[in-house]
Amino acid sequence: MDRPVLARTRSELTDLLAPARRQGQRVGFVPTMGALHAGHASLMRVAREHVGAGPVVVSVFVNPMQFAPGEDLARYPRTLPDDLEVCAGAGVDIVFAPTVDEVYPGGEPQVTVEPGPLASILEGRSRPTHFRGVLIVVAKLFGLVRPDVAVFGQKDFQQLTLIRRMAADLCLGVEVVGAETEREPDGLALSSRNRYLDAEQRVEALTLSRALRAAQEAATYGVGPALDAARAQLRTTETVDVDYLVVTTPELGDLPSDPPAGTEARILLAARVGTTRLIDNMRLVLGTTAHRGDLPCSAP
Ligand code: PAF
Repeated sequence: MDRPVLARTRSELTDLLAPARRQGQRVGFVPTMGALHAGHASLMRVAREHVGAGPVVVSVFVNPMQFAPGEDLARYPRTLPDDLEVCAGAGVDIVFAPTVDEVYPGGEPQVTVEPGPLASILEGRSRPTHFRGVLIVVAKLFGLVRPDVAVFGQKDFQQLTLIRRMAADLCLGVEVVGAETEREPDGLALSSRNRYLDAEQRVEALTLSRALRAAQEAATYGVGPALDAARAQLRTTETVDVDYLVVTTPELGDLPSDPPAGTEARILLAARVGTTRLIDNMRLVLGTTAHRGDLPCSAP
């Protein structure tokens, strides 16, 4: 298990990537904020599948621009030695762990990315400046790494959608890949935030994935029954405080009022378990609405 090479500066990164560029190899990239876990490792493996023998680069950078005042940037876990181990285990070649000055020399950039309307729904309602900060740093990291393919988790589905949209709208020339959410055997989506759950909350948190799975099964009867099935699961506990539960198109748009059978959709859920805010989402395939009356439990 070779350890990845650590690049701290832009020029170290450029030098490390130069041989691969000369040989015309594809470069894969997984941007992260560190505190890496098995979910991140799965993104690294997806990057490897896309670039073959080409280098896989992981960035570890806690981006101040995506934290609002009061969101406690200072307390975000910084675990670089452990992160290097995770990267080594996943066959990563280069870890780019720059300082804030290296990424933002001279402070915040004057020219920025305007994320548009998708950034003010769902997560953006409680964190109105968050996605602007995410897109700015991802655009900068794309400029520094110049990857052919960049991999993001479907777990942060709104982030993935916005980054895809940015790459397409601004013609950034990078293929954005969304990797399946990695889950514990009992269904809990892997997240850096799971570490804040105590044993009881960890059990309560399972309600999120159960609700989404129930929606997947009921989706054959349409959107309403899918939402009802999810809500029925969420009502089984009083300690899970739902922020939103919505069904959208795979691009986070509004579904038509009577989508035809076979329409693909996404169900997204955010909830607080204790003081920890968790998000999860799953793909739905909608069935015909003609069967609605057959649904055994069509609770309002
Ligand atoms: O998902 C994250 O860890 C961050 O939002 C990202 C994409 C690395 C940008 O800082």
